Amino acid sequence: DWNAASFIESTVAALKEQLGDDKVVLGLSGGVDSSVAAVLLNKAIGKNLTCIFVDHGMLRKDEFSDVMRDYEGLGLNVIGVDASAKFFKELAGVTDPEKKRKIIGKGFIDVFDEEAHKLTDVKWLGQGTIYPDCIESLSITGTTIKSHHNVGGLPEKMNLRLCEPLRLLFKDEVRAVGRQLGMPEHLISRHPFPGPGLAVRILGDITPEKVAVLQEADAIFIQGLRDHGLYDSVWQAGVILLPVQSVGVMGDERTYERAVALRAVTSTDAMTADWARLPYDFLAEVSNKIINKVKGVNRVTYDISSKPPSTIEWE
Ligand code: XMP
Repeated sequence: DWNAASFIESTVAALKEQLGDDKVVLGLSGGVDSSVAAVLLNKAIGKNLTCIFVDHGMLRKDEFSDVMRDYEGLGLNVIGVDASAKFFKELAGVTDPEKKRKIIGKGFIDVFDEEAHKLTDVKWLGQGTIYPDCIESLSITGTTIKSHHNVGGLPEKMNLRLCEPLRLLFKDEVRAVGRQLGMPEHLISRHPFPGPGLAVRILGDITPEKVAVLQEADAIFIQGLRDHGLYDSVWQAGVILLPVQSVGVMGDERTYERAVALRAVTSTDAMTADWARLPYDFLAEVSNKIINKVKGVNRVTYDISSKPPSTIEWE
């Protein structure tokens, strides 16, 4: 039977054996997978691991600074790079979801590559790829459903060998490993978040202003889930900024502003998912807060679609 403690013991031994005195560079995303991979590698090779955390500007509100603090607390050697201006520039006017992913994927590789080249003698690229990433990125029918940018691309460009210590694990196993490694619970129990971040939750083109609106709405929803003890009961949650304006009324003013959709799902592996039956009173509270506090939003909807046939993200 699978057991986190023995997984760690055997994996750390195998990593020491495989890597010897080699240097490894790893991209942190703020998510559970890359964080656990980093701590595991840090345990095996210590200072020979350098981590790079790129802010593409589409992270959650305050996420970059919060997560940097967590990483430093874990003793990881992390370089944080704010590349948001580059990404906003390249994404301007782009509406096609797969084009957005390609731009972010390529931009991420460029920034990472540039940083990694400042390091000397790096031989390996560490990645927090887990089993379902491999499955969803491979295609059985020949068509990829969505290209997940955390798999593939980098090692070829950088001429590095790939080191993926979590490749055979499912998410719940990754979390068990993180807990066993003593990582803080808020980092371990974080919801998954897509690599392209809020870029695939803004339908249509992306502007810094839209990202800021979405960050505010998203922060209210996520904080609400935490305050009501609902955060851990859902697999993933977020807000989608819709390319729709609708009529509303504030005081005695007619408004014509944006609509957002709240999305929360239950799942065990993201391959299938059901919409979370969140309490109506909770949804009402979040809706009121968003409409009252987030300038530019006057309507909140709740997504009641399951995967399949819908997907978790809207893009
Ligand atoms: P979907 O929307 O396909 O999402 O049901 C399944 C899971 O994958 C995440 N997701 C992504 N993760 N890059 C990522 O790293 C991406 O481009 C991407 N698209 C979706 C999504 O958040 C969910 O957890």
